[in-house]
Amino acid sequence: MKILVTGGLGFIGSHTAVELQNEGYEVVIIDNCSNSSTDVLKGITAITGKTPIFEQFDLRDKLKVQDFFERHSDIAGVIHFAASKAVGESVEKPLLYYENNISVLVYILQELQKKEKTSFIFSSSCTVYGQADELPITENAPVKPAESPYGNTKQIGEEIIRDTCKVQPNLNAIALRYFNPIGAHPSAAIGELPIGVPQNLVPFITQTAIGLREQLSVFGDDYPTDDGTCIRDYIHVVDLAKAHVVALQRLIGAKNKTNFETFNVGTGTGSSVLEVINSFEKVAEQKLNYKIVSRRAGDIIAAYANTDKANNELGWKAKSSLDDALASAWKWEQKVRN
Ligand code: UD1
Repeated sequence: MKILVTGGLGFIGSHTAVELQNEGYEVVIIDNCSNSSTDVLKGITAITGKTPIFEQFDLRDKLKVQDFFERHSDIAGVIHFAASKAVGESVEKPLLYYENNISVLVYILQELQKKEKTSFIFSSSCTVYGQADELPITENAPVKPAESPYGNTKQIGEEIIRDTCKVQPNLNAIALRYFNPIGAHPSAAIGELPIGVPQNLVPFITQTAIGLREQLSVFGDDYPTDDGTCIRDYIHVVDLAKAHVVALQRLIGAKNKTNFETFNVGTGTGSSVLEVINSFEKVAEQKLNYKIVSRRAGDIIAAYANTDKANNELGWKAKSSLDDALASAWKWEQKVRN
């Protein structure tokens, strides 16, 4: 069965391509390599023994999207990762974000509505909850006004899919709301490779430990949490990748039309920034150079998932610990730099 993975050379996309191939799916990747490299194909091949079909083009080119679906009329499902994801950049360049994250989604759905039956998995984010009123966060928690154009694209994206599913009997869709994906494949053949200075915590930690960055800044220790630093739900990217496969299988296996569904994908456990640093220092067997600085604008205090819905309805559960995830991130960083 042929599955299109857009953005399949990216961090989460590449790990999902591996899990799909491990489950016997034929993977077709579209990526414009704006934030990735074709070297990732070698990593996927090294792990699975199979090279996915790959087409390099920009999905904002609607004619190319149409042409692709005409040439690959046997695509049974789509996992759509291709999007921009830097919160700060989205504030500077909102139209870029609306074009990349919204126009492209529309173009793909327009092609899917021509098909007899199809399944669609959307990369959403826990950012849709903002600072939730109750922790852990369930899928029923209200969607809060978006703090950034990036966050808005995830909210609008979900709405577009929900509205489309209502009128398209042939389309079944799920949005996975990711918490904080970290780590790398245990083989260290693929992992996260941020371009420029990393904005996210874990790549900044590993780049500091390897000597690429002088010091990690911890953004605030005066939050109302036990140690004063913010709390997030850090999920191993391989666990997250597997969630995509089971979500896809749920849709492909469905005999009838399903309603559009959302699932939280996290571990269910919150960890503070200092807990992440402590865990990293333990698994990397070295001290990390960090200092406490002032808060980062827009950071929420705490977010972690209630994962009951994914556990019960998808039969999926995150398996890896924070230590495992950080050890894999560290192994990857060492491999990349050496
Ligand atoms: C951020 C986005 C989120 C997006 C995700 C995509 C914000 C507010 N949220 O998540 O919408 O989906 O990235 O990757 O931007 N930290 C430090 N020092 C650093 C980097 C981070 O102390 O150098 C802290 C942050 O303050 C935060 C935690 O580490 O408490 C995690 O930060 P990060 O990895 O950027 O993820 P989010 O902010 O949760």
